[in-house]
Amino acid sequence: MKLKRKDLLGLEELSREEIELILDTAIPMKELFTRTVKKVPTLRGKTVVILFYEPSTRTRVSFELAAKRLSADTVNISTSASSVVKGESLIDTAKTIQALGADFIVIRHPNSGAPHILSKYVSCSVINAGDGMHEHPTQGLLDLFTIREKKGRIEGLKVGIVGDILHSRVARSNIWGLKKMGAEVYVIGPATLIPKDIESLEVKVYYKIEDVIDKLDVINILRIQRERQKEHLFPSLEEYSEIFGVNFEKLKKARKDLLIMHPGPMNRGVEISGDVADSKNSTILEQVTNGVAVRMAVLYLLSGGGEIETST
Ligand code: CP
Repeated sequence: MKLKRKDLLGLEELSREEIELILDTAIPMKELFTRTVKKVPTLRGKTVVILFYEPSTRTRVSFELAAKRLSADTVNISTSASSVVKGESLIDTAKTIQALGADFIVIRHPNSGAPHILSKYVSCSVINAGDGMHEHPTQGLLDLFTIREKKGRIEGLKVGIVGDILHSRVARSNIWGLKKMGAEVYVIGPATLIPKDIESLEVKVYYKIEDVIDKLDVINILRIQRERQKEHLFPSLEEYSEIFGVNFEKLKKARKDLLIMHPGPMNRGVEISGDVADSKNSTILEQVTNGVAVRMAVLYLLSGGGEIETST
């Protein structure tokens, strides 16, 4: 099977088969990490341009590493040092990057839908690395990969997503991806941080972690997106942390094998306590490692590569 798409814009538009293809392809990509030479010539001669209009550590570095491990050339554009500050539009910037020879544009943008608009103006592949409050598809895919790797399946698992659902593109990509893969999704947070139309996504809503924790196989803890909040949606960070911060007290009734996830960046002591973040059930750093494998799979498949036969 091949991924018959030019772009990766979101998990809402992917089928279960397409998601499975990406997750399956990420397995042999991850196996490369144990080799002395962690590089293959698959994308030799291709150019990946990484265009971020927002800060990033994990996504930016892992796309660059993923491209390099596939032998592509990479260019990083920091918008603060580019002609964007002189007023160049997003579309003109993208057309310029394409004219310079890009095969892929990996874009992060504060406006929801920016990668979708871009994809209509350029013939190279566009990969959404996070658009506003909409989607973060490669984060969703690496979360699915990590859950499947740790639990052996996704179908039938009960996955809780805790915190600022309203402003979270990670939450949306996770919900769409998890539902397509057959998981039951629970969202937990203050009513002001849960979208009014959440029922349309067929998730269960809870307002207290303690009311649902005993049911969950996986808990994915979100950062409070203060940069996206236009009004005060909870009294203070201290109060938020008291009620929704995940600590061992709130996990008292959790399953022993509860998988604890966080997409990063973490605010220790706010949405997650340091000891929970560093506990044996935490998979936070493995998520980061898996991000490289998943992004390698996405680049490989969008370049026209097909299913890879593995010995396992
Ligand atoms: N999870 C995530 O998108 O992290 P960065 O903002 O560091 O890329």
